[in-house]
This record gives sequence, C-alpha cells and structure tokens, in this order.
Amino acid sequence: MKTYPKEVKARILIHRRIAADYFRLRLLCPEIARFAQPGQFIMLRVNELRDPFLRRPFGFSRIFPPQEKRARPEDEGVLEICYQIVGRGTSLMTQLREGQRLDILGPLGNGFWAKEGQKGAILVGGGIGIAPLISWAEKLHKVGGKKKRLTRNSEEAPEVFVLIGGKSRDKILGIREIKKMGLDPQVATEDGSMGLPGLATDLLERELLTKGHDSTSLYACGPMPMLARVAQIADQFDLPCQVLMETRMACGVGACLGCALKVKERAFREMAQIGVSRPEEEKEEMIAESQWGKMEKENQKEIFIPVIAEAPTFRYALACKEGPVFEARDILWE
Ligand SMILES: Cc1cc2nc3c(=O)[nH]c(=O)nc-3n(C[C@H](O)[C@H](O)[C@H](O)COP(=O)(O)OP(=O)(O)OC[C@H]3O[C@@H](n4cnc5c(N)ncnc54)[C@H](O)[C@@H]3O)c2cc1C
Ligand code: FES
Repeated sequence: MKTYPKEVKARILIHRRIAADYFRLRLLCPEIARFAQPGQFIMLRVNELRDPFLRRPFGFSRIFPPQEKRARPEDEGVLEICYQIVGRGTSLMTQLREGQRLDILGPLGNGFWAKEGQKGAILVGGGIGIAPLISWAEKLHKVGGKKKRLTRNSEEAPEVFVLIGGKSRDKILGIREIKKMGLDPQVATEDGSMGLPGLATDLLERELLTKGHDSTSLYACGPMPMLARVAQIADQFDLPCQVLMETRMACGVGACLGCALKVKERAFREMAQIGVSRPEEEKEEMIAESQWGKMEKENQKEIFIPVIAEAPTFRYALACKEGPVFEARDILWE
C-alpha cells in the first residue's frame, strides 16, 4: 500500500521571525509528519493565488509524529521548517499568518540514513543548511537515549558532533535546539563575530585532525562549495559522507527533470577505485564481481585503468527522486 506523498492543507501553528532573514514555520499535518524522515522535504505552495505558480521545496528542521497520548499541540503530528528569505516566494511566505492553511505535498525524496556500526556522526551545516540537520541530530541522538536500534546491528547510537558555519553571528541558527538535545555545537563565522573565525569546513578539518574519528560518518547541508569541500575532506580522511543537495526544483516529484545533477556511474566509480587504490589480486576479484565480470581476463588491465580514473563517466540523477541526500562520492563535483 502506497502511503505517501500526500497533498495536505496544513494549518499554521507557529510562524515567527527567528533572525533578520530567517523564519520558523510549524505546520499541523499528521498525515505527513507520520512518515517524514530527516533529509526528506515538502513542496509548499506559497499562497492560494498560485502566484508564484511553482511550489517551493523545504526540508524538516523538526518532526513530531502523531502520538497516542496528546498532551501538547505537537503530539497531533507537526512539521517544522526554517526558511531564509532569498527571493519572491520566500518573501511572500513572510506574510503567512498563524491559523491559515497551506497547501503542501510530501514527504518527498530520500533522507539521511545511518551507517551500520558507526560510532560517531559529524553534522556540518552552512547557513540555513543547518535546518534539516537539526532533525537528523535529534533522531541520531534520541535513538541512543531511548536505547532503540538505529540500524540492524548497532546497539548504541553514535556520538553526535554538530559544526555550524555562517557569514556572521546573525546567520548562525540552531544553537538553542542543538544545546537542548544535550549536544555542544561548534561554530565558525567568516567575520569572526562568533566562534572560530573561518568556515564550517575549517571546524571539520580541525576536529578530524585533532581528535581523529574512527567509524565516523559525515552529514552535510549548505552551499554547494561547502558541500564540495566536505566531500573532499571525507575522501582525504576516508570517511563515508552524505550530502543534502539543494538543487533548484520545480515539481519535486520527478516530472520536470529540472533538478537533474551529475552523478558518477557506480560501475565506473567502482572501477576507478579498483584501478587506483587496490592491490592487484583484489582488483581481479572485484572485477569478477562487478558488472564487468564477464570480460576476458587478459583484456581487463588494458580496458579499465587509464580511461576511468581521468574521466569518470556520469549520468543525470533527479535530486527530488534519488536524493536530495546522496553519498558525496557519487556526486560529480565540478
Ligand atoms: C530539498 C531541499 C530542501 C530545502 N530546504 C530548505 C530549508 O530548510 N530552508 C530554506 O530556507 N531553504 C531550503 N531550500 C531552498 C529553498 O527551496 C529556496 O530557498 C526557495 O525555493 C527559494 O524560493 P524563492 O521564491 O524565495 O526564490 P527564487 O530565487 O525567486 O525562486 C525561483 C525558483 O527557483 C527555486 N529555487 C531558488 N533557490 C533554490 C534553492 N536553493 N533550492 C531549490 N530551489 C530553489 C524556487 O523553488 C523557485 O522555483 C531547500 C531546497 C531543497 C531543494
Ligand atoms: S524537481 Fe521536477 S523532476 Fe525533480
């Protein structure tokens, strides 16, 4: 039985300015909150007039699934988004009133996932990019508190580290929410007005160089150059890394092809890895298991090594269907 996405008229419970350019919006929508996962998103119609015509995509900063016992409004099933004013749609959103109903569609896409056996999770948020990471931090952390299993084989939740970057103090969000979870976020600002002077990726490098992080996964959301740098650092330290790609979206459901981004063809990526870093015997085993397994042994070496490492072959993936969360090493960063 298909349960989502659903199109819902959600009532606005809370709509508040939280900083100069940022707002928090809490929506009563049990139908979507029941299934929503951190990293997934909704498409939100800005107003009834259908002007602007296209819905706007937003991730979840908090998810409150409906509860059996309903002591607070959130227990009815609530989603929260935090948004930044960037253009026409988000400017119009600032006029929304509490009590009003909003047309939303979701949950959409694929969210973050936990790695088997990970001991640590480092979440890196740049600017408004911290918003979807708040719900992911909460999930990773809460699961441990309740001694539930996040993955099939892991008994304990990973230790969660949150790194937040922004241009200046007034662009740093999420501190209060993260602290409420009992976590201690680290901050970097480009103008030095709060925390380390520099970038979120400087915090990440410092963290990895000074403390070392075995069995740690990285999760990132923010501007594209930040994501590309996080992906580079993940590669350098050989850590798994997931990135939330905020590509421009028009439909959000795979119909317009507007959100296409370049991803490396998995077979080519695997071949490139085999060619670059594996010992000779292992390469042969992996080739036998891969899609190229039927190749004649004597042809193998000539075919895979030179071409793939230099020019990885790509395909287009739809961020709204296959993402918006991707493994960083799958993205063709340009
Ligand atoms: C999966 C996902 C999650 C997101 N989560 C958040 C969030 O939690 N908080 C937040 O503030 N922003 C988020 N964004 C970005 C947000 O969707 C855009 O800032 C917003 O659509 C801009 O609309 P606008 O009309 O104000 O800007 P305009 O520039 O006027 O928009 C014109 C068109 O471009 C699209 N567009 C513009 N910028 C973006 C962008 N960065 N990403 C996607 N589409 C864009 C708009 O949807 C619209 O169709 C997310 C984007 C994606 C794809
Ligand atoms: S936004 Fe239309 S296909 Fe992804």
